[in-house]
Amino acid sequence: METHKKINIAIDGYSSCGKSTIAKGLAKVLGYTYIDSGAMYRAITLYFIEQGIDLADKARMQEALQHIQIRMENRPELLQSLVYLNGRDVSARIRDLDIANVVSEVAAIREVRTFAVALQQAMGRQGGVVMDGRDVGTVIFPDAPLKIFMTASEEVRVQRRYLEMSAARPDITMEEVRDNIRHRDHIDTTREQDPLTKAADALVLDNSHMTREQQLELVLQWYRKVVGQ
Ligand code: DC
Repeated sequence: METHKKINIAIDGYSSCGKSTIAKGLAKVLGYTYIDSGAMYRAITLYFIEQGIDLADKARMQEALQHIQIRMENRPELLQSLVYLNGRDVSARIRDLDIANVVSEVAAIREVRTFAVALQQAMGRQGGVVMDGRDVGTVIFPDAPLKIFMTASEEVRVQRRYLEMSAARPDITMEEVRDNIRHRDHIDTTREQDPLTKAADALVLDNSHMTREQQLELVLQWYRKVVGQ
């Protein structure tokens, strides 16, 4: 097989669409690095909660951003990437509902996005990154040769997220999960700063009725086409 330069792959879409599953699978097969850009917004949200930062207090928030160090560690054998906030592993903590409930508000703040996007772009400088999020193809890596925009029906997404969350929180209801997903979709798509939109050159993957294997096979076909294999 001819060797070629590693490209960056951008995967965007609504929450609970299965972006990370396909992104991790792709990274594993290609020997690329998987980066979850949403985890950075979650880590920043955790810091703000712990420090009692009022989101309306822009000066204090900007000051706080200077004290945040985020490191991502790719652990393909665990099928996840670990997230460190100022040296502490917060990978599990940032998945809690208290974070999910306010992360969209935090991710809508211009100063926060400027901070996160700079970090994300630095991580992709060498190529060979599969990154998932909301603005990867439009803002972070606008030149990525392969961009994928994922969608799935709301019902399918609610089911998936419910199954995922009820393992840790057996008391959670389907309605809570649906409300959270709707709330986040609304903010993610209507915010002023880098809203979730499909890049003009992104390929659409609606996985409402596809298995993981079918999705991966399709995306690998797209990849081979892009790199000319
Ligand atoms: O993918 P996720 O659910 O972990 O993302 C958490 C929040 O961060 C969600 O509200 C969307 C936002 N986000 C974003 O604005 N830009 C990204 N590149 C990734 C996530």
